[in-house]
Amino acid sequence: MAASIGMCGLNMSGRGSFLRSLQKNYFSCRRKVGSKSVATKVQTTTKTDECEAKDERKTFDTLQEERREQAERSVLISCPPKISEKKFLKHLSRHGNINNFFFYESFGIYAVVEFSEKDGIASLQEATSITSVSHEATVPFKTRLLSLKANESNSQPPVQCLQQTPIGVNKLVQKLSREDSIDQQSYSLMEEYQLTEENICLRFLVCSLLKDIAAAYFPECIIRPFGSSVNGFGKLGCDLDMFLDLDAISGRNIKQAGDGFSLEYQMKRTSSERAATQSILAVIGECVDQFAPGCAGVQKILNARCPLVRFAHQPSGFQCDLTANNRVAMKSSELLYLYGGLDGRVRPMVFTLRCWARVHGLTSTIPGAWLTNFSLTVMVIFFLQKRSPAILPTLDQLRHLADPRDKSVIEGNDCTFVRDFRRIPDQKNTETLENLLQEFFEFYGNFAFSRMSINIRKGKEQNKPEVSPLHIQNPFEPALNVSKNVNATQLERLVTLCQESAWLLQQGGARGRSPARDTPWGLAALLLPSVSQAIKTKGKKRRAREPASERIKTLLDSLKGSKAAPGGSAGAAESSKKLH
Ligand code: GTP
Ligand code: MG
Repeated sequence: MAASIGMCGLNMSGRGSFLRSLQKNYFSCRRKVGSKSVATKVQTTTKTDECEAKDERKTFDTLQEERREQAERSVLISCPPKISEKKFLKHLSRHGNINNFFFYESFGIYAVVEFSEKDGIASLQEATSITSVSHEATVPFKTRLLSLKANESNSQPPVQCLQQTPIGVNKLVQKLSREDSIDQQSYSLMEEYQLTEENICLRFLVCSLLKDIAAAYFPECIIRPFGSSVNGFGKLGCDLDMFLDLDAISGRNIKQAGDGFSLEYQMKRTSSERAATQSILAVIGECVDQFAPGCAGVQKILNARCPLVRFAHQPSGFQCDLTANNRVAMKSSELLYLYGGLDGRVRPMVFTLRCWARVHGLTSTIPGAWLTNFSLTVMVIFFLQKRSPAILPTLDQLRHLADPRDKSVIEGNDCTFVRDFRRIPDQKNTETLENLLQEFFEFYGNFAFSRMSINIRKGKEQNKPEVSPLHIQNPFEPALNVSKNVNATQLERLVTLCQESAWLLQQGGARGRSPARDTPWGLAALLLPSVSQAIKTKGKKRRAREPASERIKTLLDSLKGSKAAPGGSAGAAESSKKLH
């Protein structure tokens, strides 16, 4: 929805006008109404559609607050497949002005409708009935997830739905093959994969709907999204990480009267913070399971290092993880958001590498001994800090730029860093994305992982404090290694793929786009599943007797030979794979 699209007018120093225009969709306040998915909307705001103040990159808190407030004024309505959009809106607008709306499909048609005032919701709920079904009983729980019943004939054309999932990897490879440079390929990949404005709104709405459930126990709670839903690196289809924030209830900032008296709530004591978190999540999990419409497959995973409730939110199609007392992760999301907004090359680079890692099985949606997207993103940030001149500041530099309002100490850890983009000086580096990607692969293809640790606080590698194969210091909890789960085999795969990708990119980049428009080249070649397949099979067999350059040359030749991925067997096998 148009009212709060963030991070407008980012500094694009030194970038070409084409790249600027490609970035515009995310960074400017203009809504994307693309050809593949046409937004259907009643009226849109005129002021906020255009980004007037070009230098106003919103702070993380401001943007989150705007989106949260917007979600509180929104409802989610399951609709019949063929309805008159006009009549639907007319019906709803009896309850208040509608700011914005869109339709999407997720096992049925849904509409997200944003009223301009919260009163609209109250009026709508007042007019909404609870139906009784003769052979079933229902729990009369009133939420903002509604169903529309229409006595219309089926003669209406279907409503236009916005896409909520990304294109498959084969289509992406085809699209990238038609671009003219590796930089354009990287921006094009981000364009396809990044969360749309509507998808972000839907994520905030799901949090807001869950808050209504959790409010049965904790009326003043807030459920906040974190992780890739808000850090600027989320891909369509990524999970929805949520954090139950009870700070408003715990009254941390209450001023004392100063007359010697104060009142305290009586509360049950628990043995530890962890035990309190577990009991809170246990009851909320139960409540979600029993009463929350649309929430299915609820699992209470309370003994994990970070206790959580996992479930599928069916109307949105999101896989949800609800945690509590998880402030450090929230702060990490804010830091990533800041880094992503500091330079126009960070996000396309991270999107490209996340996609590359996923295609080649370096990352997975299943927890295990592989690299996580979070660790990979920290590796990219570290690499960009190490460029000369540096593209990103170190976390220590960001801490020095902070003012007293930025101060944040969580569980004894100093999590302070500057949050206002305007206080961070511009950098002078003008390298192309092609060069950066190439250098990234070279850098990690030759990194001394056995001795050194990656540290974005200092922007320098440091001696490894422990024996894990991959050591990436947690930015806010220095004693912890965010990649402790990664085993030696996975690290070796990462290094090998970096080395081979560096070589492949060098070939593709030097050659430029192939005259045969659909022949995969550059990033498209790098993302071909057949490459990883070939690395796994051919590479293994030949490794003992061929130097790496020979192996890669063979791969490259096989790529040149294969027309386009979709026809190839490995490509076809991969096409149905959901990439996160
Ligand atoms: P996706 O793979 O797209 O879901 O990326 P994500 O960034 O959302 O990662 P994930 O869902 O695994 O974790 C959510 C957030 O939790 C991350 O963005 C981090 O802020 C935080 N997080 C995840 N793993 C770690 C970790 O090992 N250490 C710390 N400190 N935070 C982590
Ligand atoms: Mg996530």
